[in-house]
Amino acid sequence: MKEINNIPEVQAQLMEAFTSRHACKVFDADRKIDEAIFNTILEAARMSPSSFGFEPWQILVIQNDEKRELFRDFAWGANGAASGTAGQLGTASHFCIFLAHTDVNMKAGSDYLQNFMKEVKQLPDDVIELFGQFYKKFQDHDFQIEGARQITDWSARQAYIALGNMMNTAALLGIDSCPIEGFEIEKTQATLEQHFDIDPTVYKPAVMAAFGYRAGNPMFPKSRRSLEQTVSWY
Ligand SMILES: Cc1cc2nc3c(=O)[nH]c(=O)nc-3n(C[C@H](O)[C@H](O)[C@H](O)COP(=O)(O)O)c2cc1C
Repeated sequence: MKEINNIPEVQAQLMEAFTSRHACKVFDADRKIDEAIFNTILEAARMSPSSFGFEPWQILVIQNDEKRELFRDFAWGANGAASGTAGQLGTASHFCIFLAHTDVNMKAGSDYLQNFMKEVKQLPDDVIELFGQFYKKFQDHDFQIEGARQITDWSARQAYIALGNMMNTAALLGIDSCPIEGFEIEKTQATLEQHFDIDPTVYKPAVMAAFGYRAGNPMFPKSRRSLEQTVSWY
């Protein structure tokens, strides 16, 4: 890692970003995030770590208003019902849906993984064979990620790392965000299949995220347990 000279300055910037980030309920609908800046936020997701480096996520960026509205009825955490507004769906500059890869792609030995190791990781065949065996042991024995649901949930866990990195990157760039799990998963999946051509056997919706510039002050003051309550040292 390269040497940082101005650590106190960086620490102050980080703390400012962490404390000013909040789950934004309503964005200024007239302020759009610059394309290059949003690409940096997307890069934060793309460069995120994942178990075995398999990147078991896809990110849909839904910019078309009509397409966003398809989720309104059942995305109660983003439709503004609680704040009496158009919500994150109606006001965010950028609105993302994270998909988790299912067992079809993530089960050890899948065509997808074989191809991923070859094309993305550019591994030679003998290393692919070893890596594949190691991953199978991890999946079947070490972590016991067996059923289809477990594998999809494991993928979603990786997706949340990308989500966290996106929100922190956004905060450092002065951009607000909101992570969103307030939606009905089955209706979301059906909508993704019907209107976005997403194959539900291969991808399941994991979480949503909205990005933009806040329309007003946070609705709730920030509250957290203390560091002592959160962390145990041994
Ligand atoms: C995985 C996840 C899902 C969330 N879902 C929603 C949601 O659907 N709608 C919403 O307004 N906030 C949502 N939140 C925001 C949380 O309520 C918020 O982060 C928490 O209350 C702490 O507040 P702060 O982020 O403003 O500090 C979600 C947060 C996380 C991490």
